[in-house]
Amino acid sequence: MSIVDDIIKLKKEKNAVILAHYYVDDEVQEIADYVGDSFYLSKVATKISEDRIIFAGVEFMGESAKILNPSKRVFMPDASADCPMAHMATKEEILKVKEEYEDVAVVCYINSTAQLKTYADVCVTSSNAVKIVKNLPNKNIFFIPDCNLGRFVANQVPEKNVILNKGFCPRHVAITKDHVLQAKKAHPEAVLAAHPECTQDVLDLADYIGATSGIIDYVVNTDFKEYLIGTVDGVFAEIHKKAPDKKLFTLKPDQVCVNMKKVTLSKILDCLEEDVNEVFVDEDTRLKALKPLEKMLELAAK
Ligand code: 13P
Ligand code: SF4
Repeated sequence: MSIVDDIIKLKKEKNAVILAHYYVDDEVQEIADYVGDSFYLSKVATKISEDRIIFAGVEFMGESAKILNPSKRVFMPDASADCPMAHMATKEEILKVKEEYEDVAVVCYINSTAQLKTYADVCVTSSNAVKIVKNLPNKNIFFIPDCNLGRFVANQVPEKNVILNKGFCPRHVAITKDHVLQAKKAHPEAVLAAHPECTQDVLDLADYIGATSGIIDYVVNTDFKEYLIGTVDGVFAEIHKKAPDKKLFTLKPDQVCVNMKKVTLSKILDCLEEDVNEVFVDEDTRLKALKPLEKMLELAAK
């Protein structure tokens, strides 16, 4: 039997489902029951009826699934797969801004620890951040932790005063304006679709800016032949499935998320066989972090 057969068999025996982000390896996306962006996966997590969720992603994703659906056992294939940006804000910074601006809403990117979420008024993902911030009653918004997504939102919602934090995604900020200019020279016909975690320099040169799901839809539904992709190359798998004729290029070599790459088929099998790397969130933290996550689901659905 192959490792894939073993996973399928054990998944059934243990009544488990596999959720996978677009950034994990193709073969992991292939065996997942649900594949999507952070927003889609958090919505799916609330509706799972099976006993176990194997989250092929990074820590904040498994944590969010546990917070939203606490009666399920959630497992991470690799316990060290973490998003560095999730830790790039502090309680002290939040309290300081709250002291300064009485009416401030703390808007927390879902790429954050459960602990950080406990100080937030609402969570957002890259696919719903503009809509949610636009519809908040507050004039002042403290956007944590990603300064690049925060600045993108601020540009789209000029009527708000968006205060930025210093967080960033090391993978997306490693893509520079020079990479884009070189790639455009090499592929003059190609259009650029970029994730809002990229720097302003890069976004200024983009033809489309959106979350991973938005980038995939843009490539699939537009009529160009060649695309430069300004995000982790894991999105290529879904695009190739839906639009096999489109030519895709990264802007630089190694456009990968090293943490998402830690998720492998053999670690998924270990997880199912040995019940390792279960996610636990203490009940006090869970209840406090649940509020902004539920608020996100409510506001995004409006
Ligand atoms: P999405 O909201 O597009 O899933 O992005 C998640 C992420 O981690 C981007 O780096
Ligand atoms: Fe975090 Fe960046 Fe990886 Fe996304 S790509 S999970 S923001 S490190």
